[in-house]
Amino acid sequence: MKNIVTGPRSPAPSTAPTLRSPLMAPLIPVAKPRLPLASAILPYLKEIDANHWYTNSGHLWFRFQGKLADHWGVDNNDVALVANATLGLTLALQASGARPGSICLMPSWTFVASAGAVVQAGLKIHFVDVDAATWMPDPAAIAARNDLDRIGAILIVSPFGMPFDMAGWDALSERTGIPVIVDAAASFDALRAGGPLAIGRAPMIVSLHATKVFGIGEGGAVVSRDPEWLERFRRLTNFGFYGSRLAMSAGINAKVSEYAAAIGLASFDMWPAARAKFAALTERYRQNLGPDGAVGIMPRFGEGWVTSTMSVTWPGDRADGPTRLAAEGIATLNWWGAGCHAQPAFADCTRDDLRVTDELGRRVVGLPFWLDMTLTQVDAVCDSINRACGRSVRASRARRRLAVAPTASAAPVPAVHHQIARALAAGR
Ligand SMILES: Cc1ncc(COP(=O)(O)O)c(C=O)c1O
Repeated sequence: MKNIVTGPRSPAPSTAPTLRSPLMAPLIPVAKPRLPLASAILPYLKEIDANHWYTNSGHLWFRFQGKLADHWGVDNNDVALVANATLGLTLALQASGARPGSICLMPSWTFVASAGAVVQAGLKIHFVDVDAATWMPDPAAIAARNDLDRIGAILIVSPFGMPFDMAGWDALSERTGIPVIVDAAASFDALRAGGPLAIGRAPMIVSLHATKVFGIGEGGAVVSRDPEWLERFRRLTNFGFYGSRLAMSAGINAKVSEYAAAIGLASFDMWPAARAKFAALTERYRQNLGPDGAVGIMPRFGEGWVTSTMSVTWPGDRADGPTRLAAEGIATLNWWGAGCHAQPAFADCTRDDLRVTDELGRRVVGLPFWLDMTLTQVDAVCDSINRACGRSVRASRARRRLAVAPTASAAPVPAVHHQIARALAAGR
């Protein structure tokens, strides 16, 4: 896989710093996924050779599904594999009976795949704003809308895999009968058994794309505790068939082959070590950037879950920050751009006032974060951020020394994301 190396989002101002010397620190990409090595996948491939079974509910597919179910602490039957999360979202909306042509409420603050899936399911998008503290819509605000009788479905998104409370959404769905679907594309870890994101009533769709914390290249999985819903979903992924060759619904082919399952099984073999590394990188960023750091860390980052991206909110008065980082060889990427409503494909969709989304779109910056990144590279990124924000690099190095001293407490730092909320409250 090619490194994802991205420069600044906007054209560099003429005063932008330029690379001073070719002997500067090496380029640090924003992402550099690592899936299991060929040698780790090989034993599973040999099983496929021996089985002569390549797709359609094969042995490895079944085992991989079971491993996902164990990981999420649900029954084997509560998980369904799907070719990727975008198809998973589309088919989940269809399996939920959302009437084609009806309105689907969804945040604009998400990756375009969520919006594409809604349109592909035949629904009309209406974008809602997110809460500055959670980066998600507020279920109480949705429950108070006076147009709920026109709403066919609600799609919510766990931003970058972060945990949130499902209770308000489940209650809303139960009270109104409106299906809620959860785009939990990056929540593989938050959803783990005993993890901080509890599985509720609504189906949750996880992506297994190479850029995710647990990747198989292309793939996805759906978790739901409703067997009838899952049967409808599975049918839609398999030409409408389920247990016979009678097409009971107009399905498509969104199955997962034995080869993808082989990568999944090998990914599980490396998961404990990979998770430990992601957790160490997470902790290092938290130590470096801290609750009062130069930039705001994304909500709930490091609170008992890991993900494969690290986003921060950049101070509004330092808009040239990413350009400065790029000049020091550090790539950044605003993973969700300015929100879906800023994308040409979705610019015509109806929407509420998207004040917080617009602010996030202007200020959220994805920093380098990948499995093989070293702690030294994390330190270099954070030093560069401090320089770009006019903060003392020496003070942050001292904090780092304190944090890594053997006597330092390993207690989690309290929730750290308040910068955007403060800035919005101050009208900045
Ligand atoms: C929020 C969100 N939803 C959906 C997707 C789509 O996942 P997939 O690539 O598996 O289709 C992504 C992928 O990055 C995502 O970030």
